[in-house]
Amino acid sequence: MNPPINIFDYEVLAQASMQPVIWDFFYGGSDDEVTLRANRSAFERILLRPRVLMDVNTCDISTSVLGIPVSMPVLLAPSAAHGLAHPDGEFATVRAAGAANTLMTLSTESTRSLEEVAALAQGPLWYQLYIYTLEEAQGMVQRAEQAGYTAIVLTVDLPRYSRRERDLRNDMNSYQQAHYPDAFSGNAPHLSVDGSDNQNTYIGDTITWDILPWLCSITSLPIVVKGILTAEDAELAINYGASAIIVSNHGGRQLDGVMPTIEALPEVVASVDGRCEVYMDGGIRRGIDIIKALALGARAVLIGRPVLWGLAVNGQEGVQHMLELLRSELTLSLRLAGCASLADIQRSLVQLP
Ligand code: FNR
Repeated sequence: MNPPINIFDYEVLAQASMQPVIWDFFYGGSDDEVTLRANRSAFERILLRPRVLMDVNTCDISTSVLGIPVSMPVLLAPSAAHGLAHPDGEFATVRAAGAANTLMTLSTESTRSLEEVAALAQGPLWYQLYIYTLEEAQGMVQRAEQAGYTAIVLTVDLPRYSRRERDLRNDMNSYQQAHYPDAFSGNAPHLSVDGSDNQNTYIGDTITWDILPWLCSITSLPIVVKGILTAEDAELAINYGASAIIVSNHGGRQLDGVMPTIEALPEVVASVDGRCEVYMDGGIRRGIDIIKALALGARAVLIGRPVLWGLAVNGQEGVQHMLELLRSELTLSLRLAGCASLADIQRSLVQLP
């Protein structure tokens, strides 16, 4: 195949380079993968209403998130097990994010320790938290704060691990597992699901909204709540102390049948009404997807699988190149839409179905 010129090319090359078991783990969603597919197809139903004869000779796509400057409104979502995509694992990812001058969110299920990753960072970092026990969470939050992470991203859509039927069929249980130095004392049980609801959960399925004030009490870092899909939960997140919200359905990997994130975004943005920053992830593969998300009120987007495709194809360079492709698509599409900066993106730029 010719060198990749867009994220879909990376996807094809990544699949060819991976063992099918690993591909299924990275690519797949839960149950019937309805939400996984909907995250993409929903973008295609939203149309753009461009303006013409605007001066778009220069086009500035830099912005900030929680006061941190980034070169573009594209952040790296937390995803598990980068070491299964490339031997350099999260080391390659953090270097690529730094080179692209954007922000990386490190997953609790990183295959490198949070301190090792921070030591290589040239750009801003957030730390994504799963809570096993309060004691363990407190330790991880304190370590992240000490290592220089500037926010804690609390993932709230995983009270239990969903059924990922590809993984069940592939018997991911007995397949090679990644080592997660910061999670489960290094022994991740999460790939060893049996698909029943009786498994001994590793994420506190007893955790409620009170976890937010507790987190705020143990750290001075802002808390970003990831996995909000409704106005009701957006309101609660703000009331309980969230500094920002990520509209996310975990890339179609948790409750199947929920709305695609680009369709959930307007409801959350309306409920938040400017009280905190709102970001979104799920299905972002093109520059125009980013424009649509920003027009509907997101301050920035996060990308999950594309990072893994870049990693699998060419390590750090692959992730960097994938990010540059997205950057140039975004800049060109903005110009074609008549926008000379992100500030020119108005709600009227999109037409909902
Ligand atoms: C994820 N995601 C995720 N989210 C999280 O909060 N903690 C995690 O450890 C992981 N792990 C993870 C692994 C893999 C293989 C994938 C694909 C995703 C979800 C991720 O942060 C994000 O919400 C979605 O990936 C966004 O959708 P796209 O960009 O993959 O379509």
